[in-house]
Amino acid sequence: MQLPRHLAIIMDGNGRWAEQHGKSRSHGHIKGTRVAKKIIQKCARLGLQNLTLYAFSTENWLRPKSEVTILMKLLKKYLKKETANLIKENIRFETIGDRSQLPSDILETLEASQKATASCTGMRLVFALSYGSRQEITSAVRHIAQLIENRELKSSDISAEVFSSFLQTRTMPDPDLILRTSGEKRLSNFLLWQAAYSEFYFSNKLWPEFSEEDLLAVLQDFNLRERRFGQVRPVETHEQLNH
Ligand code: IPE
Ligand code: IPE
Ligand code: MG
Repeated sequence: MQLPRHLAIIMDGNGRWAEQHGKSRSHGHIKGTRVAKKIIQKCARLGLQNLTLYAFSTENWLRPKSEVTILMKLLKKYLKKETANLIKENIRFETIGDRSQLPSDILETLEASQKATASCTGMRLVFALSYGSRQEITSAVRHIAQLIENRELKSSDISAEVFSSFLQTRTMPDPDLILRTSGEKRLSNFLLWQAAYSEFYFSNKLWPEFSEEDLLAVLQDFNLRERRFGQVRPVETHEQLNH
């Protein structure tokens, strides 16, 4: 099976899952964290190279303070408990997003996990935290404008590749596949630029009920996609298909 070089997941539906089970939203997030742990391990064992998980958007700061606090607590707990496992699985942990918004204890935990896993050579695991694609693009534009003002860059030097190198995802390939759970069919400010030629998969499962089997089904479906990138299929492929 051909794996995507980069899988990005919008883990959505924790709140609805909790509601369906007569529980508080926090319970949904707790269950969602467990599922994330399982899926991360499965992806690493399958040999995936890059996995990005949308864990908290810039807009999620607008949720009730109590929910934001729970989400931050869960993140901290996950990293404190799981960093040893990440090392065992040879997973390198990183984040994208606006770190300046994050509380200092969370920042410390993130940096500790990042440092502890820095020499791992297996899957790269990226948490998009306090991440918003428009903010990422705006800050890249501001950085480029500054370099032009300082005459360190010429406007004619800017190409799509150069622009990409100013984004926080610069060291990763664009996502080949973006998966969103919970039946919502939108990006919600996630990887807008990087998704130019991504394949999309929208699962009706809520994130807390998403299983390893569901993941395999998504990856199998990806295998059947024919990606053309605006070009026509090579003639040989047509001929092969017709014989
Ligand atoms: C995803 O689940 C988790 C985060 C956005 C942090 P939600 O909390 O958005 O769950 P729903 O969409 O309300 O069901
Ligand atoms: C997107 O989910 C963000 C994450 C999964 C972290 P949301 O639940 O916040 O998105 P909307 O509000 O449904 O668009
Ligand atoms: Mg949601």
